[in-house]
Amino acid sequence: MPEFQTTPGTRDILPPDAARWRRLVEEFESLARLGGYENIVLPMFEDLGVFLRLGDATDVVTKEMYDFVDKGGRHIALRPEQTAGVCRAFVQHSPTPPWKVWYAGPNFRYEKAQHGRYRQFDQVGVEVLGVDDPYLDVEVIALAAAFFVNLGLRGVRLDINSLGDAGDRDRYIAALRDYFEAHESELSEESKVTLRRNPLRVLDSKRPAEQDLIAEAPSISEFLSDEAAAHFAAVQEGLSALNVPFAVNERLVRGLDYYRRTTFEFSSTALDAAQTAVGGGGRYDGLVEDLGGSSTPGIGFAIGVDRTLLACDAEGVFAAPSLDSEVFVVDTTGGLVGVRMMNTLQRAGLRVTRAYGAKSMKSQMKSANKSGAAVAVILGEDEVARGVATVRPMSGGDQTEVPLDDVVDSVKNILRKAPT
Ligand code: HAM
Repeated sequence: MPEFQTTPGTRDILPPDAARWRRLVEEFESLARLGGYENIVLPMFEDLGVFLRLGDATDVVTKEMYDFVDKGGRHIALRPEQTAGVCRAFVQHSPTPPWKVWYAGPNFRYEKAQHGRYRQFDQVGVEVLGVDDPYLDVEVIALAAAFFVNLGLRGVRLDINSLGDAGDRDRYIAALRDYFEAHESELSEESKVTLRRNPLRVLDSKRPAEQDLIAEAPSISEFLSDEAAAHFAAVQEGLSALNVPFAVNERLVRGLDYYRRTTFEFSSTALDAAQTAVGGGGRYDGLVEDLGGSSTPGIGFAIGVDRTLLACDAEGVFAAPSLDSEVFVVDTTGGLVGVRMMNTLQRAGLRVTRAYGAKSMKSQMKSANKSGAAVAVILGEDEVARGVATVRPMSGGDQTEVPLDDVVDSVKNILRKAPT
């Protein structure tokens, strides 16, 4: 056992997985740009107060925050998500709404580490500030749905719900509290604790003994104002018009307190662990105000990169891209010829590698075979003395001797014909 290893809940993303990871973010970026979003890069830590606005009834705030006092005496926290940071930036910089931004990067939550649940995890996401229109909700949800489809995932389901406006939500929470308190003897000890903190979260319980009680609990739809109900109806109408499959799930409450009106969650049916949520989001129409700004509606989502890639593994889609070198330089002269050739090929935009440590021709050719390169450029004493190199297609075919100045063209010719 080495003395130092990654701490619980953190992982190294090694090659070739890191390349796949970057490709996922690139896919997200191109989709977000098509939708008119611009990139935002936020600090990974902020004043703790920014994240306290996520609500004192959320686990993220009460149990999972990585917070500390820095050397200047500031109470700081590592960001557990990026929506609060985006709203803080909106208040700080006053951009002209509508403000449409996308982001990618790590977040930190002190959770019980397990497969698919990490203490450092990555998200890609978007936020839109300043627009109340229900068809924006449709646009945002459709973007996330398209992303999963573009990755090749077929087993991702979308649940949507409306939590109503602040008043509706409060009345619903009060009704749930009354209902569960009247049946407290049927609740587990854990759910009793949850009930005191946040009655909404009791609906999240997966305990079989509580399912009947939860099924009979009051439904949010009975508490929606006319405006919130009309907004939700328009969202459903829009999703249907765009052929985005969804299910209305009145028990979907989500883990963060800031949600108002539309909420949604994507889960992978290919993941059988408890951690099936691959993304989620919703409206947070009061959050900018909570952070000291003027009343500004907002909506967005975040997709968990780690979990989405686990879902891709489970469905056998979105493989790691091949990063094999295109060219392998074999040099038995022991001089600088090989290094210069490699440099020339790289400047011409080719992916190149070579053998190190003055090995024999046979051993270098073996490495060239193993490397997956499509072409070998061979520089022996005899060739170099004559100012030429041997260019050999690795998949068979005739090798040719070409002047050193023509090697790049010759290699590119072979690559053009090689199967990719
Ligand atoms: P969230 O549901 O807390 O929402 O996280 C979104 C996604 O991040 C989850 O569906 C999951 O895939 C991933 N995730 C969360 N925690 C972990 C973890 N410990 N390990 C691995 N993956 C994790 C938010 O973060 C909101 N900011 C989304 C949002 C944006 N709402 C409005 N705008």
